[in-house]
Amino acid sequence: MKKIDSFKHFNKKNSVNEYSQMYKKLTFDVKYPANVKREEIFVNLLKKHKPKKIVDAGCGAGMPLIDIKKRGFDIIGYDKAANMVSEAHKNLKRSRLSSDLIFADDFENPKKIKNNSVDCILGMGAFYYSKNVNKTLLNQRKKLRKNGRLIFSLRNRLFDIATLNNYSKIFLDELYEVKSLKKNWKKKYNILTKNFSDRKKFKFKNIDEKGVNNHVPHNPITLPGEMAKLGLKVEGIYFYHFHALPPLFENFDKLYYRKISWKIENPLDWRGFFLASTFVVDCKKI
Ligand SMILES: C[S@@+](CC[C@H](N)C(=O)[O-])C[C@H]1O[C@@H](n2cnc3c(N)ncnc32)[C@H](O)[C@@H]1O
Repeated sequence: MKKIDSFKHFNKKNSVNEYSQMYKKLTFDVKYPANVKREEIFVNLLKKHKPKKIVDAGCGAGMPLIDIKKRGFDIIGYDKAANMVSEAHKNLKRSRLSSDLIFADDFENPKKIKNNSVDCILGMGAFYYSKNVNKTLLNQRKKLRKNGRLIFSLRNRLFDIATLNNYSKIFLDELYEVKSLKKNWKKKYNILTKNFSDRKKFKFKNIDEKGVNNHVPHNPITLPGEMAKLGLKVEGIYFYHFHALPPLFENFDKLYYRKISWKIENPLDWRGFFLASTFVVDCKKI
């Protein structure tokens, strides 16, 4: 499948509306409210660190930014999708805030933010849409002052183990180096994994299946080492978007599935390593 640049996907009218609406009311019928939980984690980290100047990179329709601004923080933001920026301007106006707070820029190489000028950069569901995530993180790091913070969300690669579907098959094939097994063992192994569910038959499509270009998920166990190479110290990992059972079950009764999943959301629960599809990383510039 040919993949499209994520900002083009997010520039579409239905995406813009979705990102304007999803934070307004906690509902489980249209979509699992994972982004509401994500915002809660970001707000708690901001309360803890109390940064002065904050930039929200890839701020979308601006709803989390507006909420953070209303809590008294000094925050500006930008997005590459023109329609997201104009929707964000409407949302700012509705909240009687200046439209100067949100503008167009590119988080892969931001032009409108000065180097060494920011205390904290937020990337909510943003940086894994880059062509090169590490390059984006290095360019974001340049914008931070000494000891500045880069707080961003990533997709969790270990979740693949618990999904018991095509993703698990790919993950386990790599883990056990199935390609290099002798023929009859490969056959025995394939019998074991053949009943994993097939996502093609699912009603609910994820971002990969919608054809949006994005980076392969990250492994939260190896992440501190990877970030240290980029001059970033991981000071915390917080899990969100828990799945109470493998995703196949969402097709049987979406409301029940989403409610039991919401009940087990706990950013610091060790089960997040396997049951949460995403996590927030709190990094310090070193
Ligand atoms: C999943 S949405 C998240 C929006 C917002 N952060 C939120 O949490 O509501 C991802 C956003 O990143 C934006 N985006 C994608 N690539 C970008 C880039 N290179 N520079 C800036 N924004 C980008 C998209 O247009 C979209 O608005």
